[in-house]
Amino acid sequence: MAKHTILVTGGAGFIGSHLCLRLFDEGCHVICLDNYFTGRRENFGDRYQELILSGHFEFVRHDVIDPIVLEIDRIFHLACPASPVHYQYNPVKTIKTNVLGTYHMLGLAKRVKARILLASTSEVYGDPQVHPQPETYWGHVNPIGVRSCYDEGKRVAETLMMDYHRQHNLAVRIARIFNTYGPNMAVNDGRVMSNFICQALRDEAITVYGNGEQTRSFCYVSDLVDGLMRLMDSDTTEPVNLGNDREVSMLDLVKGIETTLGRPLKTVPRPLPPDDPARRRPDLTRARTLLGYEPQVPLEEGLRRTVSYFQQVLSGPR
Ligand SMILES: NC(=O)c1ccc[n+]([C@@H]2O[C@H](COP(=O)([O-])OP(=O)(O)OC[C@H]3O[C@@H](n4cnc5c(N)ncnc54)[C@H](O)[C@@H]3O)[C@@H](O)[C@H]2O)c1
Repeated sequence: MAKHTILVTGGAGFIGSHLCLRLFDEGCHVICLDNYFTGRRENFGDRYQELILSGHFEFVRHDVIDPIVLEIDRIFHLACPASPVHYQYNPVKTIKTNVLGTYHMLGLAKRVKARILLASTSEVYGDPQVHPQPETYWGHVNPIGVRSCYDEGKRVAETLMMDYHRQHNLAVRIARIFNTYGPNMAVNDGRVMSNFICQALRDEAITVYGNGEQTRSFCYVSDLVDGLMRLMDSDTTEPVNLGNDREVSMLDLVKGIETTLGRPLKTVPRPLPPDDPARRRPDLTRARTLLGYEPQVPLEEGLRRTVSYFQQVLSGPR
């Protein structure tokens, strides 16, 4: 008998695939729901057969902008393209995914009295005027820009979560996820980590936006999954930042990849994209205090694992 039946929306994506495997390995019955926009069954690699044959793993092809009826105990709601190239490909669809998708998942959670966790984002802070960003900061977001379908979409999703909690007493959890990286990131997702690593592996010059002094804080995916599991198990309804609070500049990241590969890399400057935040670092006080969360994988180690993953992907069949 599995411990719980857990629905993971966006389960075939980058973070979702790692989360599904962790839940399965902990003895849960997992329903991986995805519309395969950016997700792929290949993200389960050589575990795929084992999952299918176990009887405790189901793949459901479904789009969360439509309602669905399932019997489940808990929902990790991750469905939404996360990288700008993917979420700006069809912005209207992105905002529908965030708003209608979250609304339908909340309706499902209410019907079956399930606990639901939303994968929100540090983008709800916009281009922050407070640094690092605590959960109490309301953000500095452009409501009409090209990123708004994603960041305003997630803000509405958070509002829906809190309104279902206050109005229907639903058990909700909100994770504000900061930049996460690791195996199963898409090669073509346009995010700085995959861009830099793939350019380096293809012997291309690294495209550095602006002067390269802008910062991000990169969290290795297993640490993020650990945070999501802790948050789901906690009794915290307030949003919680999850990520890694070591802040590095884009030029530092280039140096890190140089060290991993053991060779110097060429860089080429590019203009900054609109609404690109200058600095980003989570204040992890709440996660540490309430969840006992502490990221474990240093950037150097995470880079080694991620570079090795991209080496395999780029050398494999297309
Ligand atoms: N990766 C990060 O650094 C990061 C940072 C902040 C927040 N997040 C959030 O975490 C979640 C997962 O992100 P990820 O990096 O794994 O992205 P991803 O694009 O790899 O995964 C998203 C998954 O959702 C699926 N999906 C998209 N729209 C859907 C729809 N309408 N119906 C059903 N499935 C749909 C995709 O096919 C994909 O499998 C997202 O909600 C994202 O906003 C990620």
